Amino acid sequence: MTPHIRAEPGQIAETVLMPGDPLRAKWAAEAFLEGPELVNDVRGMLGFTGTWRGNRVTIHGSGMGMPSLSIYANELITQYGAKTLIRMGSCGAMQADVAVRDVILAQTASSLSTPSRGILRELNFAPCADWGLLRAAEAAAQAKDSRVHVGGIYSSDVFYDERPDLNEQMTRHGILAVEMEAAELYILAARHGCRALAVLTVSDHLLTHEALPASDRQQTFGDMVEIALEAAFV
Ligand code: HPA
Repeated sequence: MTPHIRAEPGQIAETVLMPGDPLRAKWAAEAFLEGPELVNDVRGMLGFTGTWRGNRVTIHGSGMGMPSLSIYANELITQYGAKTLIRMGSCGAMQADVAVRDVILAQTASSLSTPSRGILRELNFAPCADWGLLRAAEAAAQAKDSRVHVGGIYSSDVFYDERPDLNEQMTRHGILAVEMEAAELYILAARHGCRALAVLTVSDHLLTHEALPASDRQQTFGDMVEIALEAAFV
């Protein structure tokens, strides 16, 4: 038991899938896992452990933003022994050749700052995905006929961004999309010798202002769960 997770030791699997939304964790656990068991509900942040093709998996919400994800990922890694952490989430596209519904595998995650800034201080550390997970996820996405992009993303501290000039620089430097969690996940994984990946679906487009209809979100989320599971247990 930790300040934010009530699971007993041993109730969390070494492989943890992390959607932002706790209700997506519940949906994914019920849709994809055998024998899902609720292992956390502190503050309404839901976590479930079950099996997929005989492999133990935990699906646990991260909340929104790097400070929230950092709390859960820290406790999952240091107190419960999580070794592979895969974020599944939405993102806003920043390139013309990236479309709503496309899958983005975040090879790197740039940021202005993360909760690890206090440790890294003047070092501009380059948070990057685990190569094995990235390769396996790309193969899994291609096998599903998803339109998939692999490249750099931007992890922002703000959803309601008031720096259009910064977004222009991101686009100019080839950043595929913006979301709010991956950079800290990658930094924590590097610090603790874990594997991490962010699998994202484009939910809105910053250049065209197109948005994924709410009715399509469950389908695209399910695709991400399958890609994450296949990458984790390739
Ligand atoms: N900004 C930040 N995070 C996001 C966005 C966005 O536009 N879309 C989906 N996640």
